[in-house]
Amino acid sequence: MIRLNCGSVTVGGVRMDNHLILAAGVLGTTGASLARILSTGAGAVVTKSIGPFPHEGHPGPCFAEINGGLINAMGLPNPSKDFLTELTPVSGKPVIASVFGGNPAEFLEVASWFSGRVSGIELNLSCPHAEGYGAAIGNDPGMVEACTKAVKSLGMPVWVKLTPNVTDITECGVAAERGGADGIVAINTVKAMRISTDLRRPVLGNRFGGLSGPAIFPIAVRCVYELYEACSIPVIGCGGVSSAHDVVEMMMAGASAVQVGSAVIHDGDIFGSIRDALYSPDGMRPEEIVGCAHG
Ligand code: FUM
Repeated sequence: MIRLNCGSVTVGGVRMDNHLILAAGVLGTTGASLARILSTGAGAVVTKSIGPFPHEGHPGPCFAEINGGLINAMGLPNPSKDFLTELTPVSGKPVIASVFGGNPAEFLEVASWFSGRVSGIELNLSCPHAEGYGAAIGNDPGMVEACTKAVKSLGMPVWVKLTPNVTDITECGVAAERGGADGIVAINTVKAMRISTDLRRPVLGNRFGGLSGPAIFPIAVRCVYELYEACSIPVIGCGGVSSAHDVVEMMMAGASAVQVGSAVIHDGDIFGSIRDALYSPDGMRPEEIVGCAHG
């Protein structure tokens, strides 16, 4: 397998210890869990999405394991501004705050709480099951541009996490770039559902949820590939990554860095395993493989 020389890594304005990033929503709710993931080998971590008001989330069940992945509908549960105290154990570390709002002003307000306290902001314009938030507004390129522009006014690195649940993801990628984004994260979960045949009811309390895990990896690779061709800012790959091979494939599609989410649930040391398999002092320069699958 191809191995990479790690060197120093700065992607989308964020300096990281390597190319591997904890995806939003997984073990990102406390400072202790973020610090633990960094200590196991992640180059940077993204927090659970924080919004303008404290929110309990959707009624359960919120989570189910299925063939090839996970389906969740947490419903953006978060303590809002009170989350800031969780940043103390990871102060000075490569932490990206995931934020959401229902409009540009709410995005700006929430992001401003993190100003000077994190390495960058990731805009959640992509949760597939939150009324008025996430993909409900992030499927509109005009809204993507306006929210990005509002948060970019803070002067911090801004990444925009996109939904795959649109006909053409590049329209939203280009809109993020127009709004001043420093990076695009592709993809959030794929809108999905399962039905319990015993109960004759949807498995999830919210009925609909988001599919993650290996089942969506080919969709994520396709989206990264399309965005790499359409945009000039770095693309950060996300979706079903669980091995060093997946990281290399995602980078060949065009990813400058790669997020890992669901795979952490089964293997708390996955960042160390991927890092050890991916890097070697005599490995290739990452620039040699990023986007090399394009013709
Ligand atoms: O339900 C959730 O909190 C999920 C968020 C997301 O998919 O972005």
